Amino acid sequence: MAENVKMHAVQYERYGGGAAGLKHVDVPIPTPNKDEVLVKLEATSINPFDWKVQKGMIRPLLPRKFPHIPGKSISPLVLCNGIFRLLHSLLVDLGTALDVAGEVVRLGSDVKNFKTGDKVVAMLNPTSGGGLAEFAVARESLTVARPTEVSAAEGAGLPVAALTAHQALAQSAEIKLDRTGNQANILITAASGGVGHYAVQLAKLGNTHVTATCGARNIEFVKSLGADEVLDYKTQDGAALNSPSGRKYDAVIHCASGIPWSTFEPNLSANGKVIDITPGPSAFLTFALKKLTFSKKQLVPLILIPKSEHLNYLVQLVKERKLKTVIDSKHPLNKAEDAWAKSIDGHATGKIVVEP
Ligand SMILES: NC(=O)c1ccc[n+]([C@@H]2O[C@H](COP(=O)([O-])OP(=O)(O)OC[C@H]3O[C@@H](n4cnc5c(N)ncnc54)[C@H](OP(=O)(O)O)[C@@H]3O)[C@@H](O)[C@H]2O)c1
Repeated sequence: MAENVKMHAVQYERYGGGAAGLKHVDVPIPTPNKDEVLVKLEATSINPFDWKVQKGMIRPLLPRKFPHIPGKSISPLVLCNGIFRLLHSLLVDLGTALDVAGEVVRLGSDVKNFKTGDKVVAMLNPTSGGGLAEFAVARESLTVARPTEVSAAEGAGLPVAALTAHQALAQSAEIKLDRTGNQANILITAASGGVGHYAVQLAKLGNTHVTATCGARNIEFVKSLGADEVLDYKTQDGAALNSPSGRKYDAVIHCASGIPWSTFEPNLSANGKVIDITPGPSAFLTFALKKLTFSKKQLVPLILIPKSEHLNYLVQLVKERKLKTVIDSKHPLNKAEDAWAKSIDGHATGKIVVEP
């Protein structure tokens, strides 16, 4: 591919501004580093994290006071603040979407597992390129092959949302996704959203009873994903997270936000855990308190640590039709701001996809 050829991309230059802060620009097509592939994008999906970074929402969580001395033992709160600070510093220069699917068109010199023409799904390295563009560079280590049975849009939905659902269930909640584990009662909040809709489907691959929360309009949809019982979060029982069948939850995959520990606590089984994927400062405080007091009931703040073997597993599940990406809406790249605004609005059912 000729050097200095330009592509259409969407960027923002400062904090704030929401969808109106996005700018359509022509920029050079990025060049892959030796361990990266250049992907011609066919689909990108938006995650709330993308616009939260633009909004500066990670900033209040940063430590106000430093220095932090590397190598010294640090409190979980300071550790988590440090992780947020690192994520923030990685993302602030870029800030557009990380989930992509497309075709490999150029290889870095050390790339071993891909050739040009391969169809792939990737989670982008935040320091080297944005997903709201015609091309992006992806690390080989977070790129996986996409079989022909998996469309670009289905694949692009997976990286952040499905990996988060998988990490929460398979690692934090220790659910075996092949039904070999003990029966467990799971609650999934915001089950109609990007993470939640994957979480319901993945949980049902295990030996689980799934209670889910969503808005009234999505109750039948969430049941169709496999949930055993569904609560409308705007009703009294829904707000209290009461299982209609009287179950206590062994694990909660908490994808909504703003629900206090005092609401979860009475609904948990003796060793129940809340896996909080939207942890704020009070969640980190609860996490620390529960640890310090040796509480059997725990709150576990989750930050995604993406792994290609898990992304590959998820792509295979889609191929085998054991997992589906539900598409809320598709938007052309030249209207990427509509996708951004839809995500900010907070009412997506499944994934919001952008196509060049
Ligand atoms: N920790 C991590 O590494 C990590 C990774 C991925 C995502 N996240 C975070 O996880 C959250 C969820 O992400 P997402 O992609 O699933 O978001 P999303 O797709 O935007 O979620 C939207 C859905 O949530 C539902 N919802 C909102 N509030 C609810 C409530 N109180 N109870 C039940 N349902 C509710 C909405 O239903 P209605 O339209 O009916 O209101 C809508 O269907 C975001 O805050 C995101 O930043 C964190």
